[in-house]
Amino acid sequence: MQTITQSLACAREALLPHSETAALDAQTLLAAITRRSRAWLLAHPRARLTPCQHRRLRRACARLAVGEPLPYVLGRWAFYGRDFVVTPAVLIPRPETETLVEQALAWLQRHPERRRVADVGTGSGVLAITLAAECPTAQVTATDRSVQALAVAAVNARYHRVEARLAFLQTDLLTAAAGPFDLIVANLPYIPTAALKRLPISRFEPALALDGGEDGLRLIRRLLTQIPARLARGGLLLLEIAADQSQAMQALVRALLPGAKVHLFPDLAGRDRVVAVAF
Ligand SMILES: C[S@@+](CC[C@H](N)C(=O)[O-])C[C@H]1O[C@@H](n2cnc3c(N)ncnc32)[C@H](O)[C@@H]1O
Repeated sequence: MQTITQSLACAREALLPHSETAALDAQTLLAAITRRSRAWLLAHPRARLTPCQHRRLRRACARLAVGEPLPYVLGRWAFYGRDFVVTPAVLIPRPETETLVEQALAWLQRHPERRRVADVGTGSGVLAITLAAECPTAQVTATDRSVQALAVAAVNARYHRVEARLAFLQTDLLTAAAGPFDLIVANLPYIPTAALKRLPISRFEPALALDGGEDGLRLIRRLLTQIPARLARGGLLLLEIAADQSQAMQALVRALLPGAKVHLFPDLAGRDRVVAVAF
């Protein structure tokens, strides 16, 4: 049977064409298969895999070699310091989305009397569940059009023990969610259809989670029209956008929600990725 060193080399090789962090990803994969920490693996380079672990590694490497993303192979991924189940029915949680969480939590902290939260397009539930877990008095409604995504989010809510403060709704945006909500967060699909076709992520992640229509803003535009009837006075809407959409987004808010105040927040790379719309 292979040693840890040989196994890490095999996984790294399979990941190299698809990942800029192949060595780290290989360690994460092997840590999951062996149920050891990455530190343990590095400290025991000559330890050998069991036959079962070896088979699992071979199968995982075959999936990675055809470009399947590591989180789908692992079946879990971390977001804001918590572990979430992910399946091909949901978007893989991205680190950029943590910027939106930070803004949402800062607002909830400044407004302790405002606890009605909605997460539109919840996917794996990372936003809804993180906000419920970090803010123990929040009541969160999470919507998605995808029944399969909502099933994954429900598993994650139970795992993080916040299901009692979460309501899941299968609906188009906020159509079946009456509100009013104090805080509405949404990481809706925002990639223009033509651009998406050229992206490798479109091979594995669901189009429903990525495709934002011709200009990428189709769903966001429709959500903005629902906001006056759903967002409480003095409430806040937080949206994730692509780095090149901030101008178009500001124009859209001015046109659809005249009088609303718009702020942009940068991600860790300094790109404007979160739009805050205050009523
Ligand atoms: C970009 S993913 C975001 C998932 C998760 N909130 C996150 O940040 O990782 C967008 C989600 O919106 C959902 N979605 C797409 N169109 C929708 C619609 N019209 N109404 C509700 N949800 C929708 C997709 O199924 C997907 O789960």
